Amino acid sequence: MLKFPANFLWGSAASAPQTEGHALLNGKSATTWDKWIELNPEKFNEGQGPKDTSNVYELYKEDIERMKEIGMNSYRTSISWARLLPDGKTVNEEAVAFYRDYFEELNKAGIKPIINLFHFDMPWWLMEKGGWETRESVDAFSFYAKTAFELFGDLVEEWTTFNEPLVHIECGYLYGFHYPAIVDFKKAIQVGYHTLMAHIFSVKAFKEGDFKGRIGIILNVTPTYAKSESKEDQEAKNAADLLVIKSFLDPCVLGVVPEGLIELVKEHDLTPVTETGDKEAIKNYPVDFIGINYYQPMRVEAPATKRVPALTTTDLFAPYDWPEKRINPYRGWEIYPEALYDVSIMMKEDYNNIPWYVSENGMGVADEERFMDDSGMIQDDYRIEFMEEHLTQLHKGIEAGSNCFGYHTWTFVDCWSWLNGYRNRYGFYRVDLDDDNFKRTMKKSGLWYKELSENNGF
Ligand code: BG6
Repeated sequence: MLKFPANFLWGSAASAPQTEGHALLNGKSATTWDKWIELNPEKFNEGQGPKDTSNVYELYKEDIERMKEIGMNSYRTSISWARLLPDGKTVNEEAVAFYRDYFEELNKAGIKPIINLFHFDMPWWLMEKGGWETRESVDAFSFYAKTAFELFGDLVEEWTTFNEPLVHIECGYLYGFHYPAIVDFKKAIQVGYHTLMAHIFSVKAFKEGDFKGRIGIILNVTPTYAKSESKEDQEAKNAADLLVIKSFLDPCVLGVVPEGLIELVKEHDLTPVTETGDKEAIKNYPVDFIGINYYQPMRVEAPATKRVPALTTTDLFAPYDWPEKRINPYRGWEIYPEALYDVSIMMKEDYNNIPWYVSENGMGVADEERFMDDSGMIQDDYRIEFMEEHLTQLHKGIEAGSNCFGYHTWTFVDCWSWLNGYRNRYGFYRVDLDDDNFKRTMKKSGLWYKELSENNGF
């Protein structure tokens, strides 16, 4: 049996915009998602938007019972900025009552809440002013963060500022999957810089406010693997490392923006506008812990075009189609559990062995009803195997001395996912979309997870 360290966190992650429902109710103002579906419903799988999420706003108490049922001792979700501060300044008391009760119920059930502040859900009032492109976003976000610490600090001991900041940057400003869906490398870097500073000033507010507990950030970092040892492929790997790993990990953990990144953006005329005092703040406010979301590795090779200045990331590094890769046939992503060992070693050796946890790992499956048995239970043995393989590699990393304190899956109850709607299912509980109240039914993996957490291993 592979045993994990004492007090290991077992649980799942989700987010407010993907689960709460009541998208424009109970005082919540619109986010980019609420507006985008109105403007371009054809972009959304089956036209499903934030209103179609699984109604946790009403069902959280029942869901907490389900968390207990499968042995979760921790749970990450987020606060909706647009719900808590609909105009950015005024506190919505209904939201305060909702989140306070939600977090209290989690605590009562012995489930540690890990509360995140931003999961791709930019309030529309701020987007209209330019969103993360404007420096105003840094102050607006830090104000929101401080408000949340003050309102819920007695109930929450583990805070994170952002989930996967690279995703809203790349998907909004380079790849077209999030609003405003434009391709503008210079804006992407500026947006990234403001996101980083919003994080840093929120950590500052947390530390200066002397709140209890710890603060971190959730990053989608994976070790990168180059096609070859050639100089060109290694240069591509180096650029990828700088942009997709070190851009946030280095400042958040080590307190510095890497020199190589500063040179790279300069070479490509992408240098962002900064303010006096930023560098000092980055140095002074490192995080207490890191969450790492891991789904699939990143394989890179030298780009076919090498435009200078680069118009997008593929002028710096190109995705490499590794012929030996094993593919999740139900989602199309590569399955490579070994990366979790590599990431464990990277955290130990390159990042001062900072405490970290796997904040998301999971297997998405399209048309999952095909695996339903006669009793109505999804027989998701593929997901159990996926988790076992990843946990085996994680365990190896912990045995090698990496300071990992938990493993969270994506996700607990099947949830709505941006433009993909409910296409890819990830939950331990299936959601029935034909049922008015989003009926949840446990999958086989839920039973497996219960055993895992009860045994603290498998
Ligand atoms: C994670 C995000 O990276 O991937 C989630 O944090 C998202 O918000 C999840 O839902 C699954 O993505 P997809 O594309 O398979 O629906």
